[in-house]
Amino acid sequence: MEVIIQPNAAAAATLVARLIARELKANPHIVLGLATGATMESVYRILAKMYRETHLDFSLCRTFNLDEYVGLPPEDPHSYRYYMNEYLFKNVNVDLRNTHLPNGMAADLSAECARYENAIKQSGGIGLQLLGVGADGHIGFNEPLSALRSHTRVKALAPATIEQNTPHFGGDKSKVPRRAITMGVGTILSSHRCLALVTGAHKAEIIAKTVEGPITSMITATALQLHPHCTFVVDEAAAAKLSGTEYYRWIFANEPEWLEYR
Ligand code: GLP
Repeated sequence: MEVIIQPNAAAAATLVARLIARELKANPHIVLGLATGATMESVYRILAKMYRETHLDFSLCRTFNLDEYVGLPPEDPHSYRYYMNEYLFKNVNVDLRNTHLPNGMAADLSAECARYENAIKQSGGIGLQLLGVGADGHIGFNEPLSALRSHTRVKALAPATIEQNTPHFGGDKSKVPRRAITMGVGTILSSHRCLALVTGAHKAEIIAKTVEGPITSMITATALQLHPHCTFVVDEAAAAKLSGTEYYRWIFANEPEWLEYR
């Protein structure tokens, strides 16, 4: 694992966008695993700007999102399909036929989960998986006690997640769906490379547990410690409770995994 500390949230998002762009240029056919949430909005804005200003080409890549709410159609502004269209897909030259999210409206949800997991495998697997970390330490919607080898399935949202996502539903908790389809922790761990972005003082405690605490299914982001190529990009505020910052800064300055981004 590599932890890169940036001075602020804007610098952290910029670095993540540059790393994605680098991977995309190196392999235009890359399979990208995408995430939603407030933290990712600025990353997608920067990628859209790179497309407009530097012709960053998305035309050959394929994308698989981590998760989707059960019961929200794509045209619902709260669905993750809508989010992805708004923040990224309609602002770059990605072929919409190559963009995939679980179908939260499927009549047979477990068949849909199996189909999605299989589609990821058929694509050759995810080359670069972008991740945020939820308030309770989840990745995707892998809530506490998710099996660390789990695959795509339906999960009930934890109360902390419902709280966290309530502002996106006009502050009305009753409007937040109770279930979602999510890639499993095992699905995420099968990706070739993981890139997590975590910013803000409110994430400081959970990120310290994620990076430096014991691996536990109570905090599924801790499973990323098992991933052979996982980079966390955090801002100073989110890094505040990490105890190894001196070491992480030294490594980044002297032996970074992604050399060009010193
Ligand atoms: C949701 C998503 C997660 C994301 C999390 C973080 O719960 N399912 O994939 O990591 O939000 O959200 P935010 O960036 O708004 O803190």
